[in-house]
Amino acid sequence: MFLWGTATASYQIEGAVAEDGRGPSVWDTFSHTPHKTRDGHTGDVACDHYHRYAEDVALMAGLGVGAYRFSISWPRVLPTGRGRVNQAGLDFYDRLVDALHEKGITPVPTLFHWDLPQALEDEGGWLDRDTSRYFADYAAVVADRLADRVSMWITLNEPFVHMVYGYALGMHAPGRTLMLGALPVAHHQLLGHGLATQALRAAGARDVLITNNCTPVWPASDSEQDLAAAEAYDILHNRLFNDPVLTGAYPDLSAYGVELPVKSGDLETIAQPLDGLGVNYYMPTRISGAGGGDLPFEFEPISGYPMTAFGWPVVPGGLRELLESLTVRYGDALPPVYVTENGCSYDGLDDQERIAYLDGHIRAMREADADVRGYFVWSLLDNFEWAEGYHQRFGLVHVDFQTQRRTPKASYHWFADYLKDQSTDT
Ligand code: NOJ
Repeated sequence: MFLWGTATASYQIEGAVAEDGRGPSVWDTFSHTPHKTRDGHTGDVACDHYHRYAEDVALMAGLGVGAYRFSISWPRVLPTGRGRVNQAGLDFYDRLVDALHEKGITPVPTLFHWDLPQALEDEGGWLDRDTSRYFADYAAVVADRLADRVSMWITLNEPFVHMVYGYALGMHAPGRTLMLGALPVAHHQLLGHGLATQALRAAGARDVLITNNCTPVWPASDSEQDLAAAEAYDILHNRLFNDPVLTGAYPDLSAYGVELPVKSGDLETIAQPLDGLGVNYYMPTRISGAGGGDLPFEFEPISGYPMTAFGWPVVPGGLRELLESLTVRYGDALPPVYVTENGCSYDGLDDQERIAYLDGHIRAMREADADVRGYFVWSLLDNFEWAEGYHQRFGLVHVDFQTQRRTPKASYHWFADYLKDQSTDT
């Protein structure tokens, strides 16, 4: 059965950052550091979902989705990242999972959506190989509590974005600016994915996925220089995180002149068989080789398409292109694909542009010659959009952050009608 759902992430919606024994995450530290987020916004309260989850589950039931992708906050479960387990933190996810089942909604938790326990960051974070092992230990703790009611799991969310924004450019937590020195973060996250997959399997998980942010890479021209730059970017953004997981080998990183800290046996661990590849798609990327800077590529603007409030080009055909290129590139090595995020930022309750965006992307997905088994709208609620704070609204449901009042937008009603039609179609 095709899984239709919505998606969120712990730090973006939960709030309650100091409640019931939760430890601090890198995002608490980062968002409380002056000038790191727009207007100094933090996730301290966010959508207060920790207290209002029942209302949010009711909104999902009203929408008619069959699945909900959320993330588990590592520092809620293990306040210092390892060692002592905080049962009260696990209790929250227990309540959430039960509430979802009561409404017939399949829970799809993601174990890591960027909120690393600060205590682990203090020991080196994902630059440190030990973090991979602690991640697997945490996965085992969560699975021990939830695997009797959760069958589908996602290990990591967008390890590429976490590495680049968090460790290379410093625009996200933990705010490090290591440029290419951030590359070990790719390997340690992927190793953590492999070890966590083993832990989830041992606990009886049925379906295990990783979610990668993928983008079609468009060369700015067909000059040799631009084609080579586009290939280099494709390697960094797409293949660095898909190849090892699906084929057991890293792509050629010689354009970057760096070596990953791979030890014997790591690639076998990383390439555990998967039941699905989660793909987050927002837009294509246009690349040229004109720069002559430190990196072997330059970003070029994409024009000629509508733009979201975030200034992102709306290119529904890019989703089809992406799904088909994954199918061609990986062949039999590609498991079924789940679009684990797709969505856009627009203001207002009568969000006709979001309807057009979702409609266009869902059509493109359905036209794609690819084995796609699920689609999750990002996001159920307006929420804390990382460095943008509350300024970008991705929700099907509007949130008034003063009162926490939730108001379904036009897109919510559109999606509910769409899902109703799906269930009566044969
Ligand atoms: C992908 C990330 O997983 C999510 O956290 C973020 O809010 C959306 N993209 C929109 O930027």
